[in-house]
Amino acid sequence: MFMISIPVATPSRSYEVLLGSGLLARAGECLGKILENRRAFVITVSPVRRRWAKVLLKSLSASGIETELLEMPDGERWKRLTTLEKLAEKLVKQGADRGVTLIALGGGVVCDVTGFLASIYMRGVDVIQVPTTVLAQVDAAIGGKTGVNLVSGKNLLGTFHQPRAVLVDPAVLETLPSREYCAGLYEALKCGIIGDPGLFRLFEDRRREILDRDPVVVEKVIADSVRLKASVVSADEREGGLRQVLNLGHTIGHALEAETRYTPLLHGEAVAWGMIAATHIALSTGKLDSVTAGRITNSVLGFGRLPRMTWQTASILKRLRSDKKTRQGVVHFILPREIGKVEITSDVPEAIVRSAVDEIRKLARD
Ligand code: GLY
Repeated sequence: MFMISIPVATPSRSYEVLLGSGLLARAGECLGKILENRRAFVITVSPVRRRWAKVLLKSLSASGIETELLEMPDGERWKRLTTLEKLAEKLVKQGADRGVTLIALGGGVVCDVTGFLASIYMRGVDVIQVPTTVLAQVDAAIGGKTGVNLVSGKNLLGTFHQPRAVLVDPAVLETLPSREYCAGLYEALKCGIIGDPGLFRLFEDRRREILDRDPVVVEKVIADSVRLKASVVSADEREGGLRQVLNLGHTIGHALEAETRYTPLLHGEAVAWGMIAATHIALSTGKLDSVTAGRITNSVLGFGRLPRMTWQTASILKRLRSDKKTRQGVVHFILPREIGKVEITSDVPEAIVRSAVDEIRKLARD
């Protein structure tokens, strides 16, 4: 079976992202060294447990790894401190000590919650990420960002806690609901826009195969996106500078999610609208030519219909000022300059931001 290993090297820890179709069934073999003589707790949600937990547990147990399963409720609204507390109580009841390893099996919420719990349980235990959605495979599971939401906003509590390893099996994406699959692809497309023209072209040239989940093309999309994320995180673990480029589409995307109370849009879909807005801003400020702007916008819109909705532009502008990426009242944008190159900027006139938010509002209503 084919497996590639993509290194992530950060000051706090170096580890590998192991990637290959069918890898879940070989988890014991891949993770055996890391988990040797350790107790492991798999944290997951019910739909993922039903579909994939058995495969993982069987493989771990065949390698002599003692594993227990803990379930958390499914959905973004459970990405809260209370979920962490409940999981921690269960760990204590089951006698989990400082030597345990937590294994996150699931999408972005499971990865973020499990990573956060691992970073604070008994002042820190190991975590291994086994992401099962596109979004988690190309983004959430890599790079050590963990977090939960507050009523006031997304990911406002969190830590950096790098995993011991990440195991990515693109074959598990076969069973992902179509909307969730597409929403994750926007984050992969983002990787192409910020740093990999070849990956971007793959989205232009092989869109049909990607949407049809052709295993070979999907594996390439995931592997290229992981490589991009791994290289950015390796260069800037704590988002001192370069890592901010991963926030392309997130400045306006987060504001849209918060303004619409996290209901009509999946995270990737909000990022999609945000990327169109960022492209509009780049075009209006003369940072991007119109042909490239058209290619980016067409690629984003090429994945089918984004959910229709509406919002007040003034409210979005207000939210932008209170985002956690905003420092001393200055809103930072990541803007495309060409395919594979972006710029971090803080001097976008408010009128241009307003016009970009109006522009996507029109598209979102049509
Ligand atoms: N999701 C953006 C980052 O990991 O920095």
